[in-house]
Amino acid sequence: MNATSVIDRRRILGAAACAALVPLAATANAGALVGAAAMKEDFLADSRYRDALIRHCDVIVPMNDLKWEAVHPERNRFNFEDADRLLDFAREHGKSTRGHALLWYNAMPSWTREIASTREAERELRRHIEQVAGRYAGKITSWDVVNEVLSHDPAAQGTFRDTLWRRWLGAEQVDLAFRAASQADPKAELVFNDYDFEFRNPRCARRREETLAIVRRLQDRKISIHAVGLQCHIYGEQEIDRDGLARFSESLARLGIGVLVTELDVIDWKMPADIAERDRLAAAKVDELLGALASGGPIRQIISWGITDRYSWIRETFPRPDGRPNRPLPLDENYRPKPMHAAIGRFRKKA
Ligand code: G3I
Repeated sequence: MNATSVIDRRRILGAAACAALVPLAATANAGALVGAAAMKEDFLADSRYRDALIRHCDVIVPMNDLKWEAVHPERNRFNFEDADRLLDFAREHGKSTRGHALLWYNAMPSWTREIASTREAERELRRHIEQVAGRYAGKITSWDVVNEVLSHDPAAQGTFRDTLWRRWLGAEQVDLAFRAASQADPKAELVFNDYDFEFRNPRCARRREETLAIVRRLQDRKISIHAVGLQCHIYGEQEIDRDGLARFSESLARLGIGVLVTELDVIDWKMPADIAERDRLAAAKVDELLGALASGGPIRQIISWGITDRYSWIRETFPRPDGRPNRPLPLDENYRPKPMHAAIGRFRKKA
């Protein structure tokens, strides 16, 4: 092979290598789908809410309509009416949808308190997932398979939260849920969803480590898991662990696991009263969070937990001491975009 052809070959290989990198680089910055969780009551009551979902979302998530208490109110009765209404609306407007959540400890119907053995827990969990994820196979493209299975403080309380699922299934609750979801809808993106990964403290760091360990365990057992959902209910007064999040995102990418922001809002109860200042700081917080995650790997979706300050769980749960209305979401109480909306938009996949 003569000198010229060697140079050409290297150039070609170099070009090929660069070309190979570009898609990866492009993927890293491909941008995220952006969306919101929608609450039935607000969806039905307020046409501006419906319009905002159409105008600002690529993805719509039923906030409560796919929880056990909603879809499985009695042991032998399923009710998909509310979920169907919102999912049909999403589909009619060309939006993709996420399901929340196939296994949780909260929003459980009273009959589940009768579950009193491992066999029964296995049977009911498997049956629930087969019925729910199976019904929406090919329609809901991403599921929170398990939600908040980690204990609040794993170092003090052990890995898994004390729930009926841990009581009867232990760690196997996760394996069973992901197996059942994969069988019910082999094409769906299967997500491990939890909270408090985001802040600079040992508890959040440990929750990130526990999550990586669970992901690796599922992979070792050849159980399909595709992504981790960080809820990202961001306390405005807490420091974002940028390095910790970047490493977490990078570690997940190395395992071939995607990252979703699944319940984004800013808990502003301890932030300045002045609206302009508070909105600016909240947007900066969101930008810091998303920038840290994106520096470790691509963010697949950014879902806010609600879309307008007019309706948010934050008002009841984290009221401001000064009594002023909270401002946790991308649109204000009159559906006007706030700086947070632009901050999220900078990470959004370009149409
Ligand atoms: O629909 C009923 C209504 O018929 C009844 O009149 C009313 C009064 O009891 O309750 C209504 O249901 C409420 C539902 O929200 C819809 O408004 C439930 O009681 C209430 O518990 C439920 O709260 C939801 C909560 O999860 C528990 O499911 C919140 O809206 C929702 O924002 C919150 O979301 C959770 C995520 O699922 C998981 N991550 C944390 C996040 C915030 O807590």
